[in-house]
Amino acid sequence: MKRFIDKVVIVTGAASGIGRATAIKFAQEGAKVVLADLSNLDSVKSEIPNPNSHIYIKCNIGERADVVNLIEITVKTYGRIDCAVNCAGIAGKVSKPVHEYPEEDWLNQIQINLIGTWYCVKFQLEQMMKQGGGNIVCVSSAAGLVGQPENSPYAASKHGVNGLVKSAAIEYATKNIRVNAICPTAVETPMIMHGRRKLAENPEALQQAINFQRMKRMGQPEEVADVALWLCSEQSSFITGHCMAVDGGAFA
Ligand SMILES: NC(=O)c1ccc[n+]([C@@H]2O[C@H](COP(=O)([O-])OP(=O)(O)OC[C@H]3O[C@@H](n4cnc5c(N)ncnc54)[C@H](O)[C@@H]3O)[C@@H](O)[C@H]2O)c1
Repeated sequence: MKRFIDKVVIVTGAASGIGRATAIKFAQEGAKVVLADLSNLDSVKSEIPNPNSHIYIKCNIGERADVVNLIEITVKTYGRIDCAVNCAGIAGKVSKPVHEYPEEDWLNQIQINLIGTWYCVKFQLEQMMKQGGGNIVCVSSAAGLVGQPENSPYAASKHGVNGLVKSAAIEYATKNIRVNAICPTAVETPMIMHGRRKLAENPEALQQAINFQRMKRMGQPEEVADVALWLCSEQSSFITGHCMAVDGGAFA
């Protein structure tokens, strides 16, 4: 299937996990991909088809100037932005109840996951309005749908992303711009394996994470990427403002 031939697609968080799988799949389907990440993108470059026909940009989405630069380079190079998948995000460093949660970590998660995603959406929409249409997908979380004990800043940031997505979807519904969110439960990526709960080192926590899905397994980054591509495609043309659980039946 080649649904995105010559479409210009921004993917943030493209160096790892879900963003990386998404960028690779877009490239495989013919898109001109703008891969953005705070981390080095060399390793994804070696896996992407026609690596030199895509752009690789170092960008901290929590910095307004970096996001403006990302949009400017994309438009200067390709003239437009057809789709954007905003995948960059961070998990907390610790598990703590609200009254004990370290303030710096709390604020940082809001800065990256919510404010950073807002910068991306804001400036993507500005360009999409100029060109008369576009398609935005934000990778939120199941923690944007329900509370998550000992993980309040992450849950608050992802609930915020869902609020942003639904509001923007309504505002731009008649402007040929769709805005949706994906809300995964556990997906096997470096974030979940080596992040807050360090599942790679903790067999009990790993089993818990696996059991949360009715399918009794974690999702794979490619399974989330497939949903992102579908939401960016014409096959989902009547869907906007949706915060879609991708959860192996967890919320059934
Ligand atoms: N893995 C899961 O179980 C899971 C579940 C629900 C939601 N999510 C969400 O999916 C998204 C992708 O997560 P993942 O699991 O692939 O994690 P990951 O850690 O493998 O990848 C995240 C990528 O985002 C980049 N990044 C982090 N902060 C950034 C910043 N400020 N600016 C630019 N890039 C930045 C990282 O360098 C990394 O390459 C995140 O938004 C995460 O919250 C993940």
